[in-house]
Amino acid sequence: MNSSEIKALVDGTPVEAYLQVRTKSLRVVATGRGEIFSGDLGDNSSEIKFAAFSGSTINCKELDDSIALGSIVQVKGIKNTHQGYPQIVVSSRDGGSMHTALPGEYDLSNFVPKTNQDVEAMWGYVTSLLATIKDPSLKSLVESFISDTAFMGKFKLFYGARMFHHSCAGGLLEHTWEVLQYCELACRIHPSLDRDLVYAGAFLHDVGVLRENSEPLGMSESKEGFMLGHVYLSSETVSSRISSIPGFPEATRVKLLNLIMSHQEKEKQDSDFYQRTPEAAAVMCADAFGSRVSQYIRVKKDSAGADWRAHRAPIGGVYTE
Ligand SMILES: [Fe+2]
Ligand SMILES: [Fe+2]
Repeated sequence: MNSSEIKALVDGTPVEAYLQVRTKSLRVVATGRGEIFSGDLGDNSSEIKFAAFSGSTINCKELDDSIALGSIVQVKGIKNTHQGYPQIVVSSRDGGSMHTALPGEYDLSNFVPKTNQDVEAMWGYVTSLLATIKDPSLKSLVESFISDTAFMGKFKLFYGARMFHHSCAGGLLEHTWEVLQYCELACRIHPSLDRDLVYAGAFLHDVGVLRENSEPLGMSESKEGFMLGHVYLSSETVSSRISSIPGFPEATRVKLLNLIMSHQEKEKQDSDFYQRTPEAAAVMCADAFGSRVSQYIRVKKDSAGADWRAHRAPIGGVYTE
């Protein structure tokens, strides 16, 4: 249950939720009997006030000491309205409780920036486009990833990058979904492109992000990512899957790996990999198109209401009016 849903409940309804502590304070009740631990709890949907009262099972001083500002708590209480504001009342009488939640107990994506696209709708587009691949080897390769539920579970949730573009939960899928759409258009404009190679390459070009960054959600860099980067890790991940597919054609293998290794614009790339096929050029351009346009949109959005221009690495100055 999120905070918006709780606020819509009828007063007196029991509530159990994971919410982030946005403000908190401890005060003595006016009568001098007991204490109140109160403040605001929130998630991506909204914020709601809370008030916990000292009682037989609740010690407000201990709650204040043990619950850090910004932490996620599990709260059990009753939805109420106080002075016109919806709130969660936590009291011993109603079996209420409040404690810091453990990682894994709650869905972290409720508290961090999240893609504003529908994850399942994006995934539906990606899988239906990939289902059009006819080349048996590329089809087997793509299916080996799609049928890997643990891998795809992460793929749908991970940040696309830690900064600059698609840095939100679901960002990796959103970026891949965008790149595939640009690639679909490129294949329509240039029918001589090998569509199977373009689609498989666009789908797999950033799978190394899942190793470059760490759980939860790929918000921090892994040691392997720091040392090797996602371009190499994508290539290595795909390469090891290819080696488990008997008879995978050598020509397809080197074309696909060149496409992955050269998918970044030259100025961003530290290695000497050049696009050697029109399909690699198409995916590189689609990747640049998606990430570049997204960066400009993000700077404009973040700078709304501020100065008429903003500077942000790596793109530089952006006119924001
Ligand atoms: Fe990339
Ligand atoms: Fe990419």
